[in-house]
Amino acid sequence: MYYFDHSATTPVHPDVLDLMHSIQKNVYGNPSSVHSQGKKAKSLIETARKQIANTIGANPNQIIFTSGGTEANNQVFWSLLRKEKKHVISNSIEHPAVLKVLSELSTHGIDYTLIPVNKKGRVSSINIQNAFNENTCLVSIMLANNEVGTIQPIKDLAKLAHEQNALFHTDAVQCLGKIPINVVNLDVDYLSLSAHKFYGPKGIGVLYFKNKEAISSLMIGGGQESGFRAGTENIASIAGMGLAAELATLHLENHVSELISFESHFKTGLLSFFPNVIFNGDMNNKLPGLVSVSLPGYRSDILLAKLDRANMAVSSGSACGSGNLKPSHILSEMGIDDKTNISTLRFSFGASNSLKQIEQLLSKLQSILTD
Ligand SMILES: Cc1ncc(COP(=O)(O)O)c(C=O)c1O
Repeated sequence: MYYFDHSATTPVHPDVLDLMHSIQKNVYGNPSSVHSQGKKAKSLIETARKQIANTIGANPNQIIFTSGGTEANNQVFWSLLRKEKKHVISNSIEHPAVLKVLSELSTHGIDYTLIPVNKKGRVSSINIQNAFNENTCLVSIMLANNEVGTIQPIKDLAKLAHEQNALFHTDAVQCLGKIPINVVNLDVDYLSLSAHKFYGPKGIGVLYFKNKEAISSLMIGGGQESGFRAGTENIASIAGMGLAAELATLHLENHVSELISFESHFKTGLLSFFPNVIFNGDMNNKLPGLVSVSLPGYRSDILLAKLDRANMAVSSGSACGSGNLKPSHILSEMGIDDKTNISTLRFSFGASNSLKQIEQLLSKLQSILTD
């Protein structure tokens, strides 16, 4: 299988797999136990906490482990129930792990405003500025979009929020290992990460928070994670994620240049035999290696199935239900018409690819599109 869907999830790095395997086998103590097996487990968790903190420029005591990006986002939003002010500003192309949570919270007294994006998927500070009211307590804007890769001007937006006495959250799930992330430079109050997007295991993630007063526990029970996330810790996954984050940071520069070379090779090749192709997103401000392409005249579900038959995995934002394609909400919000929308595929390159694979992908696409 040629895998071009690294934005959906990544294969686990072999060193991470080895580490997790050895922990599953040898470290079975409960990290809350005081005997040496327990201490061993606890120390693995604290090592991972330091690795993650180093990766994003945080202090280890500002990091808690969650079951993934979805839970990290949920924890930020559900914490709002305790606040006096109850208005949130977000934007229309967030992941469902933000949009659906806000919609659910609106039945619990939380009010929210979704600001639009432009054709490239960028939010504008003017729109955010205009959305504040006296009750605004939080602004949540993703660092980069999962379907088109557009990167948002988080530092400027966080400054805006702080000027209005609001806190700032960013969903950075798509970003680790593709762009540098530093919570101090970005000046965010909360940040969410997910290990399976950076060659770590699935079902484990991170919530960073600047001040512990601004967060409450979503999981209620034992006192794990300093009382901010009850439940016996998933030691092997936490340790695996710590190593994956360290490796992603160590190899960031090389990985990014590899992704850029895959991307430019792919775009040039595709343009040469399908000049009508439309590249979506902000070409000057985008995650490397994520290419959203509209292929007018073709349906994404049929293209996807043909590529799958050729053992090539890609994805589309459109959802299929009883033969009808439902356009991606992200592309719709960017002003892309339905016909173009349902002709869109996302290719996301990664460490499991090579230029030779990109060549083979191009050759398969050429035969499909010029059939
Ligand atoms: C931008 C974004 N946020 C959140 C999530 C959810 O993360 P997880 O799968 O770890 O729950 C994803 C996963 O696709 C994502 O792309």
